[in-house]
Amino acid sequence: MVSNEVNQYIEKLIPARSEHVLKMEQYAKQHDVPIMELSGMETLLTYVRLKKPARILEVGTAIGYSAIRMALASEASEIVSIERDEERYNIAKENVNVLDLTNRITLLLGDANELQSQVEHYAPYDFMFIDAAKGQYQHFFDHYSTMLSKDGIIITDNVLFRGYVAEEKGLESRRLRSLVKKIRSFNEYIMQHPDYYSSILPVGDGMMVSVRKS
Ligand SMILES: C[S@@+](CC[C@H](N)C(=O)[O-])C[C@H]1O[C@@H](n2cnc3c(N)ncnc32)[C@H](O)[C@@H]1O
Repeated sequence: MVSNEVNQYIEKLIPARSEHVLKMEQYAKQHDVPIMELSGMETLLTYVRLKKPARILEVGTAIGYSAIRMALASEASEIVSIERDEERYNIAKENVNVLDLTNRITLLLGDANELQSQVEHYAPYDFMFIDAAKGQYQHFFDHYSTMLSKDGIIITDNVLFRGYVAEEKGLESRRLRSLVKKIRSFNEYIMQHPDYYSSILPVGDGMMVSVRKS
């Protein structure tokens, strides 16, 4: 992971966002909603801009911040995003409405483990962003990668989880140890996956970029 100083330096250079995007960032901060870190967000947007995916699947909408940012970064992209928390889903809907993006962002309410048929309705996807319950990443990856187009990209966030994943010490609680174990196992699984070229970027909270072999 990059040091705080490096991260702050990078964040300071990131151009200003629109008023509504800034409002969402403030809302997330005030209400403890975990949205993507700025540097990670910018990296994700770079991949979206490069790939220009026709359709993106996001697992973990929260209040719609990353879905909206991807939609604004790539005008040709349609996004399907899943959220299980009803309150967050409703706020995301409101944000998508205000920005007039309802024709390009479809929000699905429910557990990503149970929405496969609804998600399949919009398949195939050229790009996926996994940013939900970290302990279930492998499950999400295995289930939804079947809907990924050839040469598609899957980006998974938080794979270094605050630096804990690379550390041997400092894993005080049993819950943290168990979560870290699951993320490590996911990382090993994906890095050895025969169908993907993958690499881990130490930006934001750690991002796994996986490109499907054609
Ligand atoms: C880190 S937040 C997503 C942040 C969002 N991608 C952004 O950067 O704006 C993770 C979200 O995933 C949701 N989530 C966790 N597990 C889920 C599951 N199994 N199915 C659907 N949503 C889930 C949580 O409720 C939470 O709002």
